[in-house]
Amino acid sequence: MVRVKRASRRLVSPPAGFLWGTATSAHQIEGGNVASDFWVLENGSPTVFREPSGDACDSYHRFGEDLHLASSLGFNAHRFGIEWARIEPEEGRFSDAALDHYAQVLTSCRAVGLAPMVTLSHWTVPRWFAARGGFEHPDSPALFERFAAKVGERLGPMMMAATTFNECNIARMARLLFNLDAPGVSERIGAMLDAAGHGAGRWGNILFADLGATEDHQVDAHRRAVTVLKTAVPDLPVGLTISMQAVQGVGPDHRAEQLVDALYGPWLGAADVCDFVGVQTYTRIRAGADGMLPVPEGAERTAAGYEFYPQALGDTVRFAAARMGKPIYVTENGIATDDDSRRIAYIDAALTSLREAKAEGIDIRGYFHWSLLDNFEWTAGYAQKFGLVAVDRLTFRRTPKPSAYHLGRIARENTVL
Ligand code: FCB
Repeated sequence: MVRVKRASRRLVSPPAGFLWGTATSAHQIEGGNVASDFWVLENGSPTVFREPSGDACDSYHRFGEDLHLASSLGFNAHRFGIEWARIEPEEGRFSDAALDHYAQVLTSCRAVGLAPMVTLSHWTVPRWFAARGGFEHPDSPALFERFAAKVGERLGPMMMAATTFNECNIARMARLLFNLDAPGVSERIGAMLDAAGHGAGRWGNILFADLGATEDHQVDAHRRAVTVLKTAVPDLPVGLTISMQAVQGVGPDHRAEQLVDALYGPWLGAADVCDFVGVQTYTRIRAGADGMLPVPEGAERTAAGYEFYPQALGDTVRFAAARMGKPIYVTENGIATDDDSRRIAYIDAALTSLREAKAEGIDIRGYFHWSLLDNFEWTAGYAQKFGLVAVDRLTFRRTPKPSAYHLGRIARENTVL
């Protein structure tokens, strides 16, 4: 166990009432995340990434503009990630400049009236950590704990809330949704990870994790991180975010419960130490007698390939409340599309389903839309546009889309919930 200094009390009080925000992650918007494991994979050969993240949205330098924009659109909260690879670029060597940078981001949130919810780990890890196997390594929980302690001591008092892992179950979800175990796919991923590790061992990556070797360590890392954050700032709400799609059984012999087990594994129980759960929903998954069913014929698909099914959100918050027993924030919900009118339709239907769930008495405290900006969508590169705000890839100029004003108005008027 690491020694943790008690920091001051939380300096930020959450706004009264419902939280309305947008969500981002460090690697997807900051740019130049050269010390991270993903940078190595994106720029290596072979790779399964369509293109490298490069400068992303240059938000490492333009965060002030982004926060100002989010606030002026009408939001009162903001979810963003801090980058472990910047804060601890070499093992045990912490960067005060990087910690100061995130302190400035937090100060700016406060200055423009956005309550900050901070993600400690949104998939990226430092490359030195990946090179030793990532969460396969037995020391990984202690290393993550030490990082979380530094963050809690230095930045914790300035946060409204913190979460440990983004989509703790992503390796399970990705395996099913993106068919990672399919022949050909797993070989390409394996070749990419081998190349990144220069044959010296497995390159650990959260998205492409070997669950048998990593999951227990990651659960342990999560629990330790919650403990040290709460030790540093006892009144800081700490949560876990989970990728949760609405699972629907089809036919008399459907295997929905088996699919639920496969999607969530140990993570439904891992919120016991948390103050809240962050639910992240994009679509539904239908389960038949032989497992997952394809998207129904003729159904509308988003640009990410999954079914346009915004009403999934009401179902997932009900599921999370029943199975995890904690207050809920929707920490991600959104759509990849080039047709912004479909984003508006998606938002309206998702919020209607959320309002219905809330009216049933479910403790839902906020909604964070993914995402503020069109950004680096992992293996899909910049092709999939989830943003309320367009970003010019050459000038980085931000241009709000009609959906940004639409959701901003809902947030300001707080009429839907
Ligand atoms: C989620 C991720 C987020 C983004 C959206 C589209 O699974 O947490 O970073 O990629 O999907």
